Amino acid sequence: MVGKVYIVGAGPGRKDLLTLRAYELIKKADVILHDELIGEVADLLKESKAEVINVGKRSGRHRKSQGEINEMLVEFARKGKMVVRLKGGDPCIFGRGGEEAEFLAKHSIPFEFVPGVTSAIAVPEAVGIPLTHRRYDPALVFITGRESRERLNWKALAELNATIVVLMGVGRAVEIAEKLIENGKDPETPVAIIEKGFSEEQRTLITKLGELAKTAERAEVENPAIIVIGGVVELYDLLFEFCLCE
Ligand SMILES: C[S@@+](CC[C@H](N)C(=O)[O-])C[C@H]1O[C@@H](n2cnc3c(N)ncnc32)[C@H](O)[C@@H]1O
Repeated sequence: MVGKVYIVGAGPGRKDLLTLRAYELIKKADVILHDELIGEVADLLKESKAEVINVGKRSGRHRKSQGEINEMLVEFARKGKMVVRLKGGDPCIFGRGGEEAEFLAKHSIPFEFVPGVTSAIAVPEAVGIPLTHRRYDPALVFITGRESRERLNWKALAELNATIVVLMGVGRAVEIAEKLIENGKDPETPVAIIEKGFSEEQRTLITKLGELAKTAERAEVENPAIIVIGGVVELYDLLFEFCLCE
């Protein structure tokens, strides 16, 4: 009998921000294929009887390609295994969960998405930046600094009155700031860069859009980082001191 693949979000890196459903599935799985960015959740994998495979090794010589991962998922499911495909944050927010689901469906393999707490929301909250607040922009947009940026309508984005949250944007800070300003976004718009959220190396830099690139470069910001562009960043000054993440 064919198995099933659970495409599971590991949350932003803290064990206690993993959903109970994800935790139960991890404990019961036969095989777990996980990405690199799962933080403390990696410790929980030791509680599982599953075969655990890190398919996201960056430092190692071999990092599985998306094609290889897709094939592995199908292969394990065809052997009747209960497979957990564990991804950082939420599996469908710039996490390729949708692509994997598509591949599974095309191969008649049952799957389920198990949502996770996305870093896009949780990392700003960890430092006291709520992504919406009635005094500020009435919309919220998540963008990737990578692949699809050529397809972005920068003019519409700049004019939208939206808080913009950029994932995978560290290497693209110059371009992102330039495009938004060129298209009319105020260079004085507050910006926060939050690096390595939920880790001991977590760091927050507050700047403005016109100085985003310079700030990121001077501070040698590294991945992973979330960039928040919008008025809500002003709240950081008041909230950070009292926003005590335990
Ligand atoms: C491939 S995307 C995956 C996002 C994931 N699916 C989610 O919902 O959080 C990876 C990007 O997420 C962001 N990210 C993930 N974990 C982070 C963390 N702990 N601190 C800051 N940014 C993080 C960074 O922008 C990073 O480049």
